[in-house]
Amino acid sequence: MSQKKVKTITIYGKGGIGKSTTTSNISAALADSGLKVLQLGCDPKSDSTTTLRGGGYIPTILDTLREGLAEHAFTVTSSDFMSVYASNNLFKGIQKYSNTGGALLGGVIANSMNSTYHQAIVDDFVEHTKTKVVEYVPRSVTVTQSELQGKTTIEAFPDSAQATVYRQLASTIFNHNESKVPAPLSENDLRAWAMKWADTLLAIESGEVRSSGASI
Ligand SMILES: Nc1ncnc2c1ncn2[C@@H]1O[C@H](COP(=O)(O)OP(=O)(O)OP(=O)(O)O)[C@@H](O)[C@H]1O
Ligand SMILES: [Mg+2]
Repeated sequence: MSQKKVKTITIYGKGGIGKSTTTSNISAALADSGLKVLQLGCDPKSDSTTTLRGGGYIPTILDTLREGLAEHAFTVTSSDFMSVYASNNLFKGIQKYSNTGGALLGGVIANSMNSTYHQAIVDDFVEHTKTKVVEYVPRSVTVTQSELQGKTTIEAFPDSAQATVYRQLASTIFNHNESKVPAPLSENDLRAWAMKWADTLLAIESGEVRSSGASI
C-alpha cells in the first residue's frame, strides 16, 4: 500500500472572524470527498470542532500542542481594519520564522463578503502584501442556520450556494502546494493604507465617487 504524505495546514485570523466556521466546513468538505481529516483547535473556548460533533464540547488541547504543526498557513479575514491588522501581524510572524522551518503563507480566506467594497478592500490588502485571496466567502444566513442546528453548512445544507463555496475552498486548499513568504506592511504603511480607504469610503458614502461598491 502506498504511503501518502499528510498535508498540514493552519488557519489564523482575528478573534470572532469565522475561523472555526470556515475550517469546520473545509474539514467536512474534504471528509465528504473521501479524505481523512484531523482538525485540531488551539482555542481556549474549545469550540472549533463543535459543528463537526453535533454541537457537543470536548476539552482543549491548547496546552499539549504547541509549535511546528503546519507547513501552510491561511488567514481568515474580513474587510474590517482590525481583522486586516491581525492578518498583517500574522504575515510579520511568518516572515520572521520563514528561515527556521515555520509555516509559509498559502493565502487569505476573505470571509463575510457581502458588498463589492468588502472585496475591493481585501483585494487591495493582498496586493500590497504580495499575497492572494484563495476564496471569497459570503456572509450568509445559511451559516447561522447550520450553527443553530449544531452542524457545518456542508452537512446541514449540502446543496446550498454557501456549501459550494466551502467545497471550492476545500479543494483549493487541498491542491495548494506553493506557500510563500508574505510582505507585511509596516505600522506606518498600514496606517496610510487604512487612511486611504477611510477617504475612499467617505467619498463613496457622500456620493462623490460612483462605484459598484456604493451600497455601504
Ligand atoms: N460567512 C459567514 N456567514 C454568516 N455567519 C458567519 C460566517 N462566518 C462566520 N460566521 C458566524 O460568526 C460567528 C463567529 O465565527 P467563528 O466562531 O467561526 O469565529 P472564530 O474566528 O473561530 O472565533 P474565535 O476567535 O472566538 O475562535 C459564528 O456565530 C459564525 O456562525
Ligand atoms: Mg474559533
